[in-house]
Amino acid sequence: MAVIKIRNTGEWIKGHENVGSFLEKQGVLYEHWDVSKLPSHLKETFVLSDEEKEEILAIFKDDIEDLAARRGYKAWDVVALSDATPNLEELLKKFEQVHIHTEDEVRAIVAGHGIFIIKGDEQTGYFEVQLEAGDVISVPEGNPHFFTLMEDRQVVAVRLFIDPSGWVAHPYEEKEEAVQ
Ligand SMILES: [Fe+2]
Repeated sequence: MAVIKIRNTGEWIKGHENVGSFLEKQGVLYEHWDVSKLPSHLKETFVLSDEEKEEILAIFKDDIEDLAARRGYKAWDVVALSDATPNLEELLKKFEQVHIHTEDEVRAIVAGHGIFIIKGDEQTGYFEVQLEAGDVISVPEGNPHFFTLMEDRQVVAVRLFIDPSGWVAHPYEEKEEAVQ
């Protein structure tokens, strides 16, 4: 279950209904996958072989195809990040810059955690969506945001694309105080 922190006010939003209705109001897709389907050897593994990535895609095949049919995704893959990832610090520095994409950015967290920091409406400002396994989120096309890891510094996520080239990050100029 995701929790949300509004950066301006420090306010927390918790609970399935509150989180769901807040994200709906902000135009952010939020759904859930049943990660209990994952076998134990994949629940705590953050360095994945190609075979293990294929195994994850097979386990969530129905969820992926359902989401793809509803929202037009044509390609998907699995990404894993942890302290074992070469150049993790450099990658995080890149991820932590506010940017936009020309298609929505959808991620299904299947293990570990991640945070999307998303620009909300004028009144709300930037908010953090702290995600755990089972959370599925999509940042709308053109909506400024960035991603980072949580304290455990590990995540496995399924990514879905309409066109993988649409996921190029375009920098978004933002006043620093607006993000903090
Ligand atoms: Fe992004």
